[in-house]
Amino acid sequence: MPTASHPAIRRVRRQGTYPTIHGNKLWKSTVLIMDYLKKNPPKHARTVIDVGCGWGASGIWCAKQLGSDVTSMDADPDVFPFLDVAAVLNGVATSPLVSRFERLTTRQLAEFDMLIGADICFWDELVDPVFNMVNRALKAGVKQIVIADPRRPTFSEMAARAVERHGGEVVEWETRSSIKASGAILVIDNG
Ligand SMILES: C[S@@+](CC[C@H](N)C(=O)[O-])C[C@H]1O[C@@H](n2cnc3c(N)ncnc32)[C@H](O)[C@@H]1O
Repeated sequence: MPTASHPAIRRVRRQGTYPTIHGNKLWKSTVLIMDYLKKNPPKHARTVIDVGCGWGASGIWCAKQLGSDVTSMDADPDVFPFLDVAAVLNGVATSPLVSRFERLTTRQLAEFDMLIGADICFWDELVDPVFNMVNRALKAGVKQIVIADPRRPTFSEMAARAVERHGGEVVEWETRSSIKASGAILVIDNG
């Protein structure tokens, strides 16, 4: 993954593109997702949606390592030029979708085997939209939910509500690779 100092990333910045809802760098929770999925290969990952994708690293990883057909979704259209740089460097492409957690319909979600999200529940106002999106995804038949977080209280609240309603678990996770990250991952298997 390119860092902020990568020439191609600097070129995007010089063109005046600035994500404004925190999609301005690679957040470490995305590394938790990659590490978790590497050690727990998903049974169903032909189609994947990476919600609140930012620079899109975990979706790009699924496209590259799992051969998944990935949709990268974010409310902020300005994240996609950065995601494109990362995708090209990895020799893959994902399909961009500008939308919001609260706008993704059950019908749209039914297209996917797995929903992933990294650090997407960081404000009080995001707890209900993320919880409701998880509910719709499971109703739509999405087979696995994997949402990672650095253990923000807002994530813990959303995850506890999801586990109470649907089962699943909140797994404590820590990487031992070159990028150190630790946090919690909401994992719900749905068939
Ligand atoms: C902390 S960043 C994490 C980005 C990426 N997942 C990562 O780990 O590098 C949160 C992302 O969620 C997006 N976001 C915030 N609220 C959203 C909403 N209601 N619907 C969709 N995306 C949203 C932001 O634009 C931002 O890219």
